[in-house]
Amino acid sequence: MQKIYAGITAVGGYVPEYRLTNAELETMVDTNDEWIRTRTGISERRILKEEGKGSSDLAVPAVLELCKKRGISPADIECMICATVTPDMVFPATANIICEKIGATNAFGFDIMAACSGFLYAVTTATAFIESGRYKNVVVVGVDKMSSIIDYSDRTTCIIFGDGAGAIMLEQVEEGLGVKDSILKSDGSGCKFLHMKAGGSVKPSTVETVLAKEHFVYQEGQSVFKFAVKGMADVSYELMERNNLTADDIAWLVPHQANLRIIDATANRMGLPKEKVMINIQKYGNTTAATLPLCLWEWEKQLKKGDNIILAAFGGGFTWGATWVKWAYNS
Ligand code: UT7
Repeated sequence: MQKIYAGITAVGGYVPEYRLTNAELETMVDTNDEWIRTRTGISERRILKEEGKGSSDLAVPAVLELCKKRGISPADIECMICATVTPDMVFPATANIICEKIGATNAFGFDIMAACSGFLYAVTTATAFIESGRYKNVVVVGVDKMSSIIDYSDRTTCIIFGDGAGAIMLEQVEEGLGVKDSILKSDGSGCKFLHMKAGGSVKPSTVETVLAKEHFVYQEGQSVFKFAVKGMADVSYELMERNNLTADDIAWLVPHQANLRIIDATANRMGLPKEKVMINIQKYGNTTAATLPLCLWEWEKQLKKGDNIILAAFGGGFTWGATWVKWAYNS
């Protein structure tokens, strides 16, 4: 049987209009613009304000843009994988809700929960689906409405996160192009440093859990920072080494946008200059599963067929990983 190569063939994205600036956060918690910018690199983040709207409402315009660019109808989609930690509901999967909203009537869908690495886990899964010959196209959407699980009286977390969605299509591409390699890792001992305490089966929602603010992100920032710096830099370097890639071979690093200092450390370890690193954390903050596809969406026009791109992420779980993509098209 002839080998099938799987690659990204289109990108879509969406961020809500409302801009939550550092200046506005100064009115909400004891913080200041200078602290936020120097410690994280963030100036503002987008927030989905409308009542009754959830992650699927962020994902829908991203996936519709993708279909338009690719010139296909939602009914042509065969599989939808949604990476998110803020599903519309605990169940059913948000992927199913997205499919229903856009009329992807022939797709099966499911969610992947791997926090900030969710997009990479989903891309790796989708790649295997295409390479196996079982499916012709798979849509991967990374989406999070982080504002739904953030305590806006906690200055250590509310300054970081934002809402957004990015989507890609994976299909068969020319020989030698597409997703070339991926290293994914996880370590459940990281749970204690970054999690949401209540609302799961261990601690179902009660009046007490709500009053104790246990339905919000809990993060021990410094500990996560230490693991993230090492994890993201090490795995990116490992991916380069095992594929004999040098810094000169790499056109772009697409890093998870959690903290500018983590991004810098990863780029330094890989020997990459700033010009080769996609950074939009200043505009969107940390959108969890959406950071990587939102970067691809913003930089799509600058990407050239054959470009070597390394995507890298680190997040709750802990989960982390890096993926090497040879870009498959010119926009
Ligand atoms: O994407 C998921 C993975 N998550 C991450 O990768 C996040 C990793 N962690 C981080 O990015 C950083 O740890 C944070 C941005 C969360 C915090 O930055 P930090 O440099 O680690 O600050 P810190 O927690 O060590 O706090 C330093 C000081 C403390 O005050 P004292 O104890 O030195 O007096 C904090 O209370 O800064 C204080 N502080 C703030 N001050 C102003 C904490 N948050 C704020 C704030 N504004 N928003």
